[in-house]
Amino acid sequence: SPPSILGNCKSRSESGDGENYADIDWDGIGFSLVPTDYMYVMKSARGDKFSQGSLVPFGNIEISPSAGILNYGQGIFEGLKAQRTEDGRILLFRPDENAQRMKRGADRLCMPSPSNDQFVNAVKQTVLANKRWVPPPGKGSLYIRPLLMGTGALLGVAPAPEYTFLIYCCPVGSYHKGGALNLKVEDKLYRAISGMGGTGGIKSITNYAPVYPAMTAAKANGFSDVLFLDSATGKCIEEATSCNLFVVKGNTIFTPEIVGTILPGITRKSIIEIAIDSGYQVIEGAVSVVEMLEADEMFCTGTAVVVNSVASVTYKDTKVDYKTGPKTLSAKLRSILVGIQTGCVEDKKSWTIQI
Ligand code: COI
Repeated sequence: SPPSILGNCKSRSESGDGENYADIDWDGIGFSLVPTDYMYVMKSARGDKFSQGSLVPFGNIEISPSAGILNYGQGIFEGLKAQRTEDGRILLFRPDENAQRMKRGADRLCMPSPSNDQFVNAVKQTVLANKRWVPPPGKGSLYIRPLLMGTGALLGVAPAPEYTFLIYCCPVGSYHKGGALNLKVEDKLYRAISGMGGTGGIKSITNYAPVYPAMTAAKANGFSDVLFLDSATGKCIEEATSCNLFVVKGNTIFTPEIVGTILPGITRKSIIEIAIDSGYQVIEGAVSVVEMLEADEMFCTGTAVVVNSVASVTYKDTKVDYKTGPKTLSAKLRSILVGIQTGCVEDKKSWTIQI
């Protein structure tokens, strides 16, 4: 059944009256750091559980030059958003999914992780302490960045003796300023090694800087982002630098399956469910470059990116253009997702948590 639009979505001009907002240009926010008021910090020794954290003023942290994260990359992060509804509530979207993904990453890198409850409570406290930074409805969202890092000092290669779970947050607008994306297929550098043994499927900090050479070269040539291929065959698409990929052919949506090389995106998972509920067939499996180049439409998903159309893909000397604009499937799926996240569309699956 089509999603129901709730009656509490007023026009923009009616919303937000009387709220205490930070004094910034809410129309000018993009995806860049705006320091907020508080961050959450909780520590644990190796082999121990996290117990009690606290809010502290947002600012620099002090760690040893020989901290595990600085020397051996023992660190992971998460990303989630808080949104303000038109009737003044603040909603989180599936924060338990982020807690579970952080735990999987922590296990992979030999780190203790906060429990689900500790994670979600810490997120709630961080958002409430920074409430004035949650953008007015329609102006963006509060991006929440949990970090888990080996902060204890050591010299030899080993799990650090101490860990810090830290959450900071920042108001954000669109991740990609230019709208629909023009992607360049990278066919020399790979984002992740093939198979379940690698770290492509966790949000390890070490998965990001290695994409910079391809990304900066593509951007210098006018592309918005890079599309990575699987390292085993170089024939199938995996993901872009910060988002999962979907291609559409007729009424069928194809997306690379989660096989250890692709980040299990929470937006990806939600869009798959929304698409199936809306009557589309979704196939998770290997998606070849050839299939992608023959598709009608393509889009990407991620917490930061939300859902964004791909306008074109360039593979070697071939450039293919895709359907974009308000009539695309990605626009339809995006409006349902954002509607749920902002309280405008009924949340039948209890994905949102009001704080
Ligand atoms: C997110 O979508 O939350 C991400 O982690 C992408 C980020 C690397 C900007």
